[in-house]
Amino acid sequence: MTTPIIQFIEVFKSYQSGSQPVTALEAVNLSLNAGDFATIMGPSGGGKTTLLNLLAGLDVPDQGTLLLNGQKVSDLSDHDLTLLRRKEIGIVFQFFNLMPTLTVLENVELPLLLAHSSKKDDQRIKILLDYVGLWHRADSFPAELSGGEMQRVAIARALVHQPNILLADEPTGNLDSENGLKILDLMKQASVDFNTTVIMVTHNPQVAERGNRHFNIRDGKLTEKTL
Ligand SMILES: Nc1ncnc2c1ncn2[C@@H]1O[C@H](COP(=O)(O)OP(=O)(O)O)[C@@H](O)[C@H]1O
Ligand SMILES: [Mg+2]
Repeated sequence: MTTPIIQFIEVFKSYQSGSQPVTALEAVNLSLNAGDFATIMGPSGGGKTTLLNLLAGLDVPDQGTLLLNGQKVSDLSDHDLTLLRRKEIGIVFQFFNLMPTLTVLENVELPLLLAHSSKKDDQRIKILLDYVGLWHRADSFPAELSGGEMQRVAIARALVHQPNILLADEPTGNLDSENGLKILDLMKQASVDFNTTVIMVTHNPQVAERGNRHFNIRDGKLTEKTL
């Protein structure tokens, strides 16, 4: 049996909102294998972003166990957690989150600089920008691009460390349906080409059904849908 790349075992997370505790995740169990393309749907406030934040190491569970590649995240040192976040996990956001004052090339290069890579790796960035079909726009600024193009740059940036896991929080939510499906195709292709496990949150059922695993989350409770 292969070790799942992502495993949640009875994970609980709640937040304090004023004097009231708000349950964001309740008894969540999830097991994904390398190369899975999981889509998560559910109403606003259901817990989608919380689940991704725990995976990204941006927050910690109150209870339960989170394993990445069979290793308990709670056992990692701060140093290892930082490395994991930087190198093993790529994130794509709904609003692209590109740096407006940096060119396309510089935006994709940024994670390498932040990881203190000793030398610039222009070749890797060219390959990635070619991969997303935007090498010819390397010197453009984000504001000069369409939404679909900005998201392709964001995907190149998320892939720059060749992550094992790609998290995407409504990556097509700000695009028209045609561009949304193009972004979906690109992420699916990337998951195959780089053997990356993808978790994608979406409100679009047409997008969601293209994953190989389909989940719903409501009131913090995650369920898997079998089509
Ligand atoms: N930092 C926070 N402080 C207080 N409540 C939060 C915080 N983050 C999320 N929540 C609450 O947790 C629940 C789940 O939120 P979230 O994971 O963002 O849902 P979704 O992404 O599905 O819209 C919501 O009730 C939300 O208000
Ligand atoms: Mg959200």
